[in-house]
Amino acid sequence: MRIDVITIFPQYLTPLRESLLGKAIDRGQLQLAIHDLREHTTDRHRTVDDAPYGGGPGMVMKPDVWATALDAVVAASDPAAAPALIVPTPAGKPFTQAVAAELAGRRQLIFAPARYEGIDQRFVTDAATRMPVYELSIGDYVLAGGEAAVLVMVEAVARLLPGVLGNPESAVDDSFGTGLPGLLEAPSYTRPPVFRGLPIPDELTSGNHAHIARYRRDESLRRTAAHRPELLAALPPEALDAGDYQV
Ligand code: ADE
Repeated sequence: MRIDVITIFPQYLTPLRESLLGKAIDRGQLQLAIHDLREHTTDRHRTVDDAPYGGGPGMVMKPDVWATALDAVVAASDPAAAPALIVPTPAGKPFTQAVAAELAGRRQLIFAPARYEGIDQRFVTDAATRMPVYELSIGDYVLAGGEAAVLVMVEAVARLLPGVLGNPESAVDDSFGTGLPGLLEAPSYTRPPVFRGLPIPDELTSGNHAHIARYRRDESLRRTAAHRPELLAALPPEALDAGDYQV
């Protein structure tokens, strides 16, 4: 997969070269290019924003500068990659594990994180005539800019790419992974067997795989009920087995 990010803060994206993603880049599974939006300004002050039509606080990012930057990235891309544009915004559709999986199936993603009051909407309207556009929110809170949302989305997408996770099974049983549809993952434990007086749950040391699976599922159900009751309420009855009703 190829990922391009256009931003006025290129340094903000440097953590993407760390850890798991850094290794994926080194192995050639992920290509990452960060572009400075200001390279596409034409005035002496390298202006990227202006006052909003209709009044109100804050500044709006200029559509012409964004469109020029996007055109340049698209022109330098393989047309067969059919890139999708991702615009992080608190006004977008929720970014979920299902959206991450959908994006992981694409060959190229171009991210356009905004600062200030966002980008002039005509940038999105115009881009949507040429490519799929996703306006996405990472949660019901407002960040100072979209860059942190790009870090979140790229990490969630990249770990789903073939060969990026050491053990692909680990993505399956994650909260929101395909192995536990609609449920949160059970808590995890490792050595030592007793930590500050707290033992490991007996079931996990029993060696009985059916008991372990039942215990983990029960803990998933309890955790989901405690932390995300709305997820449990949304489960279709056929997603629950007879043992689930005893929890
Ligand atoms: N930009 C500002 N807040 C955001 C959010 N919650 N999600 C995505 N982009 C954002």
